[in-house]
Amino acid sequence: MFPIKKFLPRSLLGRSLLIIVMPLILLQIVSTWIFYDRHWETITRRLTTAVAGEIASVIENRRTFAGAANEAHILHTAETRLDLRINFKPGAILPNKPYTTGNSILDKMLGNALRERVRRPFHMDTRSHENQVRIQVQLPDGIFDVAVDKERLFSSTTYIFVMWMVGTSLVLFAVAMVFMRNQVRPIRRLANAVENFGKGRDVRDFKPEGATEIRQAAAAFDMMRDRIQRMISQRTDMLAGVSHDLRTPLTRMKLQLAMLEESADIADLKADISEMEKMVEAYLSFARGEGAESVTVSNVSDILAEIVNRMDKKDTDITLQTSGDLSVPLRPNAFRRCVTNLVNNALIYGGNASIQASRTQGAIQITIDDSGPGIPENQREEVFRPFYRLDNARGPDTAGTGLGLAIARDVIRGLGGDLVLENSPTGGTRARMRLPV
Ligand SMILES: Nc1ncnc2c1ncn2[C@@H]1O[C@H](COP(=O)(O)OP(=O)(O)OP(=O)(O)O)[C@@H](O)[C@H]1O
Ligand SMILES: [Mg+2]
Repeated sequence: MFPIKKFLPRSLLGRSLLIIVMPLILLQIVSTWIFYDRHWETITRRLTTAVAGEIASVIENRRTFAGAANEAHILHTAETRLDLRINFKPGAILPNKPYTTGNSILDKMLGNALRERVRRPFHMDTRSHENQVRIQVQLPDGIFDVAVDKERLFSSTTYIFVMWMVGTSLVLFAVAMVFMRNQVRPIRRLANAVENFGKGRDVRDFKPEGATEIRQAAAAFDMMRDRIQRMISQRTDMLAGVSHDLRTPLTRMKLQLAMLEESADIADLKADISEMEKMVEAYLSFARGEGAESVTVSNVSDILAEIVNRMDKKDTDITLQTSGDLSVPLRPNAFRRCVTNLVNNALIYGGNASIQASRTQGAIQITIDDSGPGIPENQREEVFRPFYRLDNARGPDTAGTGLGLAIARDVIRGLGGDLVLENSPTGGTRARMRLPV
């Protein structure tokens, strides 16, 4: 099938203009065709028949009322009353070249009319003169050379009609374009606002405008945005509250334990409490970070370099490679925490980390590879669940809460991007992030 879709406009403005223009052009073609075919042909036939009839009647009169005085009178009347300027060339004979007509409707109709009415050999010339048609008719004693104004044969209204149609439709098109553009603008604004909100960016001074349906959609979006924002802040507030409230009794318990005698049980309890403290700390930092931080354009290379530098001191196996312009709107602290979580995972479970960041079509891609044991394919979504940990993480020196990946994905998705785990070419796990620019 012919791929028409490729040639159709993709934007709403283009499509609505097409919807307006297509019927307009169709209407014009149909009405022009009907006008041309019916009206113009008929008019031209009538006009040419009338002129041919007049010429025939002049010839007839001249034959009937022969004589020099009559002839002068007849030719004079033809000129003054019929607008036929006739020049009689006595004894002349039409050249014997074959009779040819042009292809215009005037040529055809006039030829037919002359053959039908005059019934004598004739030549005609509809082209050489701008405003005149010359007709030469062979008479027994010479040639009648007739000059007729084209106006008498020809209706010029067709051109005027077409010009008016084209002209008015151009005006109509321009007006439609202006109106449609105004109609499309609020939709585009709404689309931009929704897109920005999806990417976690600020949506400032957005207000419903335009047609009722668009206003309705915009108002609905506004309400939805409010609700989502309220939900987010309630969630962070609650998490912060719980974490904060838990810290006080935990501290109290720690103090009480410190005053008890040392024993194996007490040591276990102390370990448990310090683990709980760590968890609470993690929730608190998560809740604190997400809440207030606003999106700013930041350079991903700088943030990555900073993270790597801070870690390098502890002589870890970590490399960083960046290329291209990596400026992107994000929440710097949240993003730092996200990358740190992933790098820590790579270092803890894989033994090393190699970070790469580059710009791709409309996005920035960051990968973090390690050469550890990797994550089984059927667990790669599971590990994103809060508190979900694999067996490899049960060792004593890898005491985590199982929140790292959940937080990381939350941050990236909050910026309109995504985070997935894959096989790394270096044998272990690859965490791949994509951030829309
Ligand atoms: N690079 C990796 N290689 C192998 N396993 C991994 C890797 N990254 C994560 N995992 C597995 O996924 C689980 C979840 O990781 P996540 O970062 O969410 O929690 P955690 O590291 O256990 O704790 P936290 O990061 O909160 O201190 C880990 O316990 C580990 O079993
Ligand atoms: Mg982790």
